[in-house]
Amino acid sequence: MSLTSLTEQEQTVVPQAEGTEDRLCTYPVHVVGIGAAVPSDRLTNQALETMVDTSDEWIRTRTGIRERRIAPAPLASSDLGFAAARVALEQAGVTPADLDEIIVATVTPDYQFPSTACLLAARLGLVGIPAFDLAAGCSGLMYAIEQACQAIRSGSRRTVLVVAAETLSRVVNFHDRRTCVLFGDGAAALVLQRASLQDEPGILATNLGSDGRGAHLLVVPAGGSRLPASSQTIAQGLHYLQMSGSEVFKFAVRVMEESTRLVVARAGLRVEDIDCFIPHQANVRIIQAAAERLGLPAERIMVNVDRYGNTSAASIGLALVEAYQQGRLHPGDVVVMTGFGTGLTWGSVALRWTAPPPTPEQVRTLVYQATAADAAEALGTPPACPSPLPGESKNGV
Ligand code: COA
Repeated sequence: MSLTSLTEQEQTVVPQAEGTEDRLCTYPVHVVGIGAAVPSDRLTNQALETMVDTSDEWIRTRTGIRERRIAPAPLASSDLGFAAARVALEQAGVTPADLDEIIVATVTPDYQFPSTACLLAARLGLVGIPAFDLAAGCSGLMYAIEQACQAIRSGSRRTVLVVAAETLSRVVNFHDRRTCVLFGDGAAALVLQRASLQDEPGILATNLGSDGRGAHLLVVPAGGSRLPASSQTIAQGLHYLQMSGSEVFKFAVRVMEESTRLVVARAGLRVEDIDCFIPHQANVRIIQAAAERLGLPAERIMVNVDRYGNTSAASIGLALVEAYQQGRLHPGDVVVMTGFGTGLTWGSVALRWTAPPPTPEQVRTLVYQATAADAAEALGTPPACPSPLPGESKNGV
């Protein structure tokens, strides 16, 4: 069923009822470290002009994108995620041994299995803690933050590493001008930690949702159990991303507004209280339309889609890191992140920023520039198995 065939009322997919989960929370959850990684290789609009029938002017006016980063072979999502995680852990002053869980949000994992989270855990020298991937498209980071938050609030985890890592360039058809100009590669990581019961909450509220009726609007048709990879699927280009751009556009504007209003209400705040709004970076026109509906002034909105394009799950995290790097986040500020993506999915997180301003050294290093050499470590000998031994999980902190 196409979303366009639904009535306006049916299209209002974000539930309007107030959530109850905040009443159940126990431990406050704070973001104690953030980091990002992007490939150092840039693909400009001018370079795309030589590859497909497009123009810098069309791409800039329709999307706001000027360039995107592309991971050179053999750099994979786990390499970018690992680089981002190292930055976030260092910034948090947390060692890998302090982690109780790793969640990776991605739709471009290194392999169909094992999970990218397990590869990442091994790179960090960790054995024994839970590590899993989560596929919620460009809303993936919002989903992962909520999962981490619930585990920490309940007391079952103390410190969780959340990573969003994508190499969309691997599933984009660089002969298809409708999609290849939009996407790029990158990763972001957050360290979430429980605070003491007397502390004020960092994460204030979350809101997630999905509507699988729009699954066909953004899909990689082949390579799964429905249509396994074959010479035929490759000849037909079915291993590449396919998208109904204008349908996704309408959905995006609607859910970004609805999900943002809901998460803000759940946090006991008003839209006017938002100090920094960090939307999914897919298209500057989507961001502007959503911001206009919300009545948010331009100076409160973080935009970096011009330099990275749409990095799917990584995009909100990358924008958060840059907002912090640029000195736009101050202790006490209300930050609202919101995204939408394949599924269809959507998700928002409202938080009160608690970290002090970055040091000059952090400003320089918050976004790591990855090269093909960063993959060498993963392709070499697997790291030696440190304690705890498999099975000695650190759960129940
Ligand atoms: N360069 C030049 N022309 C292009 C082009 C390109 N890169 N891509 C598409 N066109 C053409 C189309 O073929 C069409 O030509 P036609 O009228 O002769 O058929 C024309 O431009 C208009 O296409 P249309 O799809 O209506 O453009 P649009 O204004 O809707 O913008 C998107 C297209 C994809 C940029 C926009 O719909 C969008 O951003 N959608 C959301 C995508 C998204 O966010 N995806 C990720 C979800 S997480």
